Amino acid sequence: MRTHNNGELRIKNVGENVVLAGWVAKKRNLGGLIFVDLRDRQGITQIVVKPENKNYSTLENVKNEYVIQVTGKVVERESKNKNIPTGEIEVDCAEIVVLSEAEPTPMIIADETDALEDVRMKYRYLDLRRPVMQKNLILRHNITKAVRSYFDARGFIEVETPVFGKTTPEGARDYLVPSRVNPGKFYALPQSPQLYKQLLMVAGLEKYYQIVKCFRDEDLRADRQMEFTQIDVEMSFIDEEQIYQVIEGMLKKVMKETKNIDISTPFPRITFDESMERFGSDKPDMRFEMELKTLTEVLKDVDFSLFKNTINDGGIIKGLNAKNAASKYSRKEIDRLTEEVKKYKAKGLLWLKFENNALSGPVAKYLTPEIANQLITILNIEEGDVIFIVADQKNIVNASLAYLRNLLGKELNLTDPNKFAYLWVNNWPSFEFDENEQRYVAAHHPFTSPKDEFKDMLLTHPEKCYSKCYDVVLNGYELGSGSIRIHNQKVQSDMFKAIGLTEEEIAQKFGYFVNALKFGTPPHGGIALGLDRLAMILSNSPSLRDVIAFPKSANAICPMSDAPTTVSEAQLKELKLEIRK
Ligand code: AMO
Repeated sequence: MRTHNNGELRIKNVGENVVLAGWVAKKRNLGGLIFVDLRDRQGITQIVVKPENKNYSTLENVKNEYVIQVTGKVVERESKNKNIPTGEIEVDCAEIVVLSEAEPTPMIIADETDALEDVRMKYRYLDLRRPVMQKNLILRHNITKAVRSYFDARGFIEVETPVFGKTTPEGARDYLVPSRVNPGKFYALPQSPQLYKQLLMVAGLEKYYQIVKCFRDEDLRADRQMEFTQIDVEMSFIDEEQIYQVIEGMLKKVMKETKNIDISTPFPRITFDESMERFGSDKPDMRFEMELKTLTEVLKDVDFSLFKNTINDGGIIKGLNAKNAASKYSRKEIDRLTEEVKKYKAKGLLWLKFENNALSGPVAKYLTPEIANQLITILNIEEGDVIFIVADQKNIVNASLAYLRNLLGKELNLTDPNKFAYLWVNNWPSFEFDENEQRYVAAHHPFTSPKDEFKDMLLTHPEKCYSKCYDVVLNGYELGSGSIRIHNQKVQSDMFKAIGLTEEEIAQKFGYFVNALKFGTPPHGGIALGLDRLAMILSNSPSLRDVIAFPKSANAICPMSDAPTTVSEAQLKELKLEIRK
């Protein structure tokens, strides 16, 4: 049907007779000559049709997005277009066949589109016709290709695990599927293949990976979809160091093969506690500094009621220095930032500017020269800097300043999209206290091994236990998360009890798994990386939706197919289900 694609022809092809096919991206009539930009996945070729051409009138009726086939000769262009690879030539059309007509499209098919998200999602097949979207899907394909060849070369085997299974404890809600043959019973779609991959280690597979769909019923965000894909890995007879090496090697290959970027390894590492202290976050963007500094001690004697009250209530004070940004942030701008941090429950945002060698701002007059000097030293304050301070309970201070740090990073152009800053955050606490449920929950998941020194403290001092858990972070996103697993039945049982499960619940939920641990379990560990997140970051896309062919909207629907939908009475009856009004 075609001899070449639309991104292929160059000056060396001049004189050749070719057949091209594709979509009409643009049609212009210049002094009787009709020019068509013919588009396919590979690019655009300009077609020229002269008035004497027997198909001239056919072409006059052809509109944007018609699919046509063009036969003609490659000629050198008079006015060359340096912006596209085929810009030195055009195809002098001899024959045109209209393969398919097109109605006017509800959105412009081009990289720059003003179409709203709703329209893009409803007409996803048109959205995906845009070169930028195709580029994203190709990048995603290239990532998976590099991942597969990396693991293959290292003796890993890809094993598929079931989609219909039993609930997995990753912390989100399960998607449930009713069983027709077992009325009243439900399968859960996997939140991850966690237990299966561990069972594959018990089975002796040693090195497993899988590029796998996971399903979680949680509120959707720019970096969260209800169905997403993990690069899931598990290995036996390894320690944390080997996992780091394997994953760093994989990401090095992915970066080289998809972006032609050489990243340096090993990645920097910080502990969870250090990350919270220095950045207020467990996934800091390391493309820029702007570290948080604890100021509680320095400011404790300042006669300023907010500071005094905060400290009396057991709170803390932290601040950060936005270098050279004093003039950028006017009062009005600071009011805007204040509104932003209030989303994270901060009661307010204090500021200090250092201009003309003096500190100014609402608290400046309360600072003695000694305290001012200490602040200048701790925060490395120089002429033109602006300091932001939050005094509140620790989690609020960290959350609001971490958010502010990211926001300022963007506004001050510190987040170079061509820079990729990888980081390991390790040494996580084993548990988090869930205020709603008033119990400890596993910080990662309950199969994560505590550090050896805490093995016997899971039940007596859960708050003191740290685990062999690690996250790989990229440009402020949690890219992946994993751990060395518990391979001892007693420790596993303590872990379940520590999160409030009774013997009966353990047996009912995880009996098959705990049982497997009895039969000779190798020490093992692994990790899962978000493929969608990796593709989103590497393509500089603002949302996962830009790297998933058919994603769901923020309210968990597919505007194109209208899923989810109601089902017929007959279907419900067959499943022995009733909808409660
Ligand atoms: P975790 O739950 O941290 O770990 O998930 C691993 C990685 O999967 C990605 N991810 C998501 N991506 C898009 N949308 C979502 N809703 C979503 N949820 C998670 C993230 C995350 O870092 N079984 C463990 C891994 C292990 O221990 O080996 C697990 O699933 O990039």
